[in-house]
Amino acid sequence: MTDDTPLPPEDGPESTQPVQEWRNFYGRRSGKTLRNSQRSYLDEDLDRLRPRGIGRDENPERSPLDLQALFGNDNPVWLEVGFGGGEHLVHMAKTYPGINIIGCEPFINGVAMLLGKIREAGVSNLAVHPGDVRDLMDVLRDGTIARTFLNYPDPWPKARHHRRRFVNQDYLVPLFRVMAEGAEFRVATDIPSYMEQALEEVPKAGFRLEAHSGTPWSDWISTRYEQKALREGRVPDYATFRR
Ligand SMILES: C[S@@+](CC[C@H](N)C(=O)[O-])C[C@H]1O[C@@H](n2cnc3c(N)ncnc32)[C@H](O)[C@@H]1O
Repeated sequence: MTDDTPLPPEDGPESTQPVQEWRNFYGRRSGKTLRNSQRSYLDEDLDRLRPRGIGRDENPERSPLDLQALFGNDNPVWLEVGFGGGEHLVHMAKTYPGINIIGCEPFINGVAMLLGKIREAGVSNLAVHPGDVRDLMDVLRDGTIARTFLNYPDPWPKARHHRRRFVNQDYLVPLFRVMAEGAEFRVATDIPSYMEQALEEVPKAGFRLEAHSGTPWSDWISTRYEQKALREGRVPDYATFRR
């Protein structure tokens, strides 16, 4: 693992409810010093790709985001939570030019890596929220997301930290609200207890389990975290839920 790789933290305060004035975030927001090229991606590209009105500073009323205005079309909108280095996000944008994808990632080094990949791929059906997905979900209208990817979420291995995982109701209830009926929610992880929790908690939020296996989706691209898991002998596990 390099210093560029987003790392889950080991400690922090308790989890919080969605749509509130203040919430805790336990992850890292920055890592090693950015290269000059990465700084220039952030300076030159992020402003154009970043949706406005997600943070409370810009949108204290929490007015809903106009996705059609954001992308300039009414194509379906997909969401990737915690895109890390962005390889999966760019791969999906390239593979599906007829959809729009919003990626969320609070770790700025990951955002800079993604921006480099976007330049290289020349894709424009993407938006980047360099922050917490909960802030984005607050301002999404009901039923507006046609697919969500949760690839190798922070594992929070200690039992007392399991409540910080994405697959608990604080995250899943708002996710269910913003996803369209029939929309797909994909979860990939290498942590058996994480998948166990997903299989228990995601249906509680209203989703239906559609598939669960060690074989990835046909349009899958392996992520940095999956590569790391494989190197270290852990086994990828994939689940598909339906809203
Ligand atoms: C273990 S990494 C996996 C990165 C990437 N998906 C991959 O497979 O390589 C998990 C990522 O989720 C991000 N993350 C954690 N909490 C988040 C949140 N509330 N909103 C958005 N991203 C979050 C972290 O910053 C981290 O980059």
